[in-house]
Amino acid sequence: MNHSKLRLFDAFAGYGGSHFGLKKSGIPFEAVGFSEIDKYAIEIYQRNHPGSKNYGDITKIDASEIPDFDLFTGGFPCQPFSSAGLCLGENETRGTLFHDIIRICRFKKPRYVLLENVKGFMSSRHKSTRDTIVRTFSEIGYHVEVLLLNTKHYGVPQNRERVWIYCTLNDVNPFFTIEPDKSTRTPNLINFLDEKPDASLYKNQKQIERIIELHKVNLDVPEPRCLDIYNKKVRDDGICITITEPHHNCMRIVEPKIGTQYQLRKLSIAEHFRLMGFQENEIDYSGFSYQQACKLAANGWDVNLASKIFKKIFSNIQVSG
Ligand SMILES: C[S@@+](CC[C@H](N)C(=O)[O-])C[C@H]1O[C@@H](n2cnc3c(N)ncnc32)[C@H](O)[C@@H]1O
Repeated sequence: MNHSKLRLFDAFAGYGGSHFGLKKSGIPFEAVGFSEIDKYAIEIYQRNHPGSKNYGDITKIDASEIPDFDLFTGGFPCQPFSSAGLCLGENETRGTLFHDIIRICRFKKPRYVLLENVKGFMSSRHKSTRDTIVRTFSEIGYHVEVLLLNTKHYGVPQNRERVWIYCTLNDVNPFFTIEPDKSTRTPNLINFLDEKPDASLYKNQKQIERIIELHKVNLDVPEPRCLDIYNKKVRDDGICITITEPHHNCMRIVEPKIGTQYQLRKLSIAEHFRLMGFQENEIDYSGFSYQQACKLAANGWDVNLASKIFKKIFSNIQVSG
């Protein structure tokens, strides 16, 4: 590269998981722009990464009007991948947001592209879309790696499986992978919980009794644990289930009884962000409601994992002046 810093374009930006990940990795970079349409995501992004211009709806971006960049990142929404994937081949991505990723990358030819999606994207239902993505990037000159990674293997006790798609124009050593080395030990969820959780997070005894009756779960625990309401199970492995948007959320924290009283609560906002790889005060979400902040956290990148992936990608690459 003939410039001193990696230039990032952050699409489907959310809170800027790639931006936070790059910062954490210590790689010198500058954000030349981002693309986001959600009011709260734009607000949190601009507050935490000031100075970066929002190019808005990706479907309306004229690629010739955005500055050049080296790295395109995007956790693209999965909704556009409908079950209509019946051997549509090239047409598979037409009308989807992925089509706009390809359109922009075909024109700008960034040296690196890092995309992320939910685990369901690896299912047989989405095979033809996946194949189209890999084939299309390969056709325009990229080496492509598709990998499923779980947050729990990289130092954060959340079971969060996500698909990462890495594309590069570089010649790639056949043994190269963006997969970071796994942590030798996963820290316990207890270390990610608030010391004094806010009283408003707790369920009352009547609500708790209802949950016990409905789901037949034993909430008498020796230490704080994750209750997986969907699977009707208190996890005893010190790991929590995937953080999802508040209206889908099946996760509760069970704490040891106080006297005869069961203790059950939702996660705080700070706990959401800690479990997405953030350190204390690393992200400013002040003024956001519980719903808004937790929705952003649920849809974001695990910034701890993102930083490790970036270190893998850029460890051998000189950014010269
Ligand atoms: C899965 S989230 C990605 C979050 C992000 N990776 C992060 O770390 O926070 C997808 C984001 O894409 C945004 N989005 C959806 N449609 C879009 C469009 N047409 N143009 C730009 N952004 C869009 C959504 O508002 C949402 O914030």
